[in-house]
Amino acid sequence: MEKYLINPNQKISKISKDIYGHFSEHLGRCIYDGIFVGEDSDIPNVNGMRCDVVNALKEMGIPVLRWPGGCFADEYHWKDGIGPKENRKKMINTHWGGVVEDNSFGTHEYFELCRQLGCDTYINGNVGSGTVEEMSQWVEYMTFDGVSPMAELRAQNGHKEPWTITYFGVGNESWGCGGEMDPEYYGCLFKRYNTYVREYSSDKPIKRIACGPNGSDYHWTKEVMDKVKNKAHGISLHYYTIPTGDWGHKGSATEFDLEEYNSTISKAYRMEELVTNHIKAMDAVKFDHRVKLIVDEWGTWYDVEPGTNPGFLYQQSTMRDAVVAGLTLNIFNKHADKIMMANIAQTVNVLQSVILTEGEKMVLTPTYHVFKMYKDHQENTLVGSYITTKELESKNDNNSKYPQLVESASIDENGVVYSTITNTSASESAEIKCQIADFEVKEIEAEILSGDIHSKNDFENGENVTVKKFTDFTQTADGFTANIPACSVVKFIVR
Ligand code: AHR
Repeated sequence: MEKYLINPNQKISKISKDIYGHFSEHLGRCIYDGIFVGEDSDIPNVNGMRCDVVNALKEMGIPVLRWPGGCFADEYHWKDGIGPKENRKKMINTHWGGVVEDNSFGTHEYFELCRQLGCDTYINGNVGSGTVEEMSQWVEYMTFDGVSPMAELRAQNGHKEPWTITYFGVGNESWGCGGEMDPEYYGCLFKRYNTYVREYSSDKPIKRIACGPNGSDYHWTKEVMDKVKNKAHGISLHYYTIPTGDWGHKGSATEFDLEEYNSTISKAYRMEELVTNHIKAMDAVKFDHRVKLIVDEWGTWYDVEPGTNPGFLYQQSTMRDAVVAGLTLNIFNKHADKIMMANIAQTVNVLQSVILTEGEKMVLTPTYHVFKMYKDHQENTLVGSYITTKELESKNDNNSKYPQLVESASIDENGVVYSTITNTSASESAEIKCQIADFEVKEIEAEILSGDIHSKNDFENGENVTVKKFTDFTQTADGFTANIPACSVVKFIVR
């Protein structure tokens, strides 16, 4: 029997809702088809946005949406995406499939989407191929409330009122697709571009995000932090889980054996080490203002579904992905004092998406259900918790060890305790005994998402993996005992 201790007296930090954030790039069928179908589409839409997708994302509790990229951001020229649609410039999306980008989804459409979703905004600016002036004018166009050339242009294009930018990213992957820069050089560029990201309204501060490291590149973090210091509010880490560790042959999203399942989980669990060590590297650079970590690209990355455009990164999603999502979100919760935001890649039809679409059809992936289960944690207070657990091992991932159980716990303003537990084992359930310090349990509700490691939802059966009521537990005076099934994500709400 594993011991699980929750201490609501140990209040650690607020869990930012933005840890549950998403990312949508002009890549494959994420924006076009997946979210935006245009006003003239037969698919029910409001101002071009699919109603089914918008409603599902709202129900899931999407708090913030990053746009327009990714690699696309560093070749995006925002002026191509404003004004009458018939006059908008077309371009080739060189990173993603070489398809024609007609710029019919631009700045106005993005803010309309966020309005419909009721979520915060995260715009990623172009440092790789854009100028300081271009970035500066974009921010003026979006946020200036007064008489200025860009504010006037915005009004001419139908939006007199300024919008609010919650987060602004100065470049993306500047170590790679965003310009192949060295960290020292990027750090200097960040300061230059960032100077002209003007804040036009003091009551609407823009949180500035510096391009952070690729995986375990701690040198990048240190050098960029040294330059950027308190000019940035966040520095962004990118880490993808690739089961084989080989970009040439990443592994199938649906056809994998037990060893490949284990290596996926083991590699996903590496997030704990990355987050811990990057925070240490950031803390080592001393100054008077706390820059937080952002993980604005994470998730599983497999070979594309057979027969689909390799540049579109379309992949299916199974219970394996749900386990990755469950354990990763628990890791982020546990570091809530240092992590300001995280954005899974990507919202619809790309990589570990929460939604898949095919024409007018829509499917919610197992990952979607995990985000919806965990939404209770948003803006709660993270509390101290600890669980004993078996260690599992992945042969394919150099015999790396990872825990069978990964958990986190939070409390809301009414004193209700929320606990989410992921059982990463493909075959073994785990008996747990939970005790909550100084707590008299009146009532417990629980939910579960579980299945075989290969279980998935598809267009033939979209309800194969769904959240169910969980009953395999016994309430005790100060907690509960429970049997957590293999390959599952379980949530307890304790009143
Ligand atoms: O999410 C897909 C791509 O992965 C993004 O465009 C890029 O930033 C990263 O390499």
